Amino acid sequence: MIGVYDSGYGGLTVLRALRAALPTHDFVYLGDSGRAPYGGRDTDTILDFAEQCVERLFEEGCPLVVVACHTVSCVALRHLQRRYGPGGALVGAATESDSAGATPRRILGVTIPAAEAAVAQSRGHIGVIGTARTVSSGTFATELAKLGPHRVTQRAAPLLAPIVEEGWEDSAIARLAVARYVAELGDIDTLVLGCTHYPLLRAAFEATLPEGVAILDPAPFVAARLSDWLDRHPGFVAPGTGTLRVLCTDPAGFRAHGERFLGEPLPVVAHVAEEGGRLAHKATVEVRLGQIVR
Ligand code: DGL
Repeated sequence: MIGVYDSGYGGLTVLRALRAALPTHDFVYLGDSGRAPYGGRDTDTILDFAEQCVERLFEEGCPLVVVACHTVSCVALRHLQRRYGPGGALVGAATESDSAGATPRRILGVTIPAAEAAVAQSRGHIGVIGTARTVSSGTFATELAKLGPHRVTQRAAPLLAPIVEEGWEDSAIARLAVARYVAELGDIDTLVLGCTHYPLLRAAFEATLPEGVAILDPAPFVAARLSDWLDRHPGFVAPGTGTLRVLCTDPAGFRAHGERFLGEPLPVVAHVAEEGGRLAHKATVEVRLGQIVR
């Protein structure tokens, strides 16, 4: 099983691309929707939440976790990889329940696939929009700089994710907000949608951006990179039958919004309880929507 982690339901736009590219793989999605949005949170809090969530996905039996959230990928991916990846401090000892010891684990993100795709198609000036923390982390700019001498203009767009969460992506408010942000990006030729919510605003971006500016949704490139990784690591994750389990920390909100992001009906959404700032550990029995997992 492959774990997919996001701050909420936005990462379902990434999961959609992953499932399309890898239809025979089984996925477990964990959306920390009860503690979202992450985009304005401080770095230490994001690191803490990210550790809890990937550990929960390890407990669920996922040796491979894709961090679908751009904010987490920019702020915490290196930390998570050092902590849980090969040679990491907690390899094989990430969870209390995993006493087997040496299970190899990998965590992949979304930033590098997005940066590579942007560089491959840009003529020289790349724009990036994302949450406040994504932009202030400077991670996109760092990764883009490693790949070539492109100009990069970044802009935090904190109003956009809440507009999508309200379901207002086809409204005048959405078009106005997008236009204000885009106006500050100058003469870019490629715009990276560096937030899981923004693909739902594609129509507003298309209506606003000058002709010839490419809009880059990283999700299909993340899926291509994951597929390539699986080919290069045969046996790391056994293929399955295309099942999907969904866990979240706020099932009511999740069920109301998730389908728009996933593009297909959601399966039963299980609730992962949070108490005193920590996520509960995995239950041994399956529970229905609304029940607390302890
Ligand atoms: N999933 C987040 C991201 O892609 C957006 C929502 C949030 O701020 O938590 O950056």
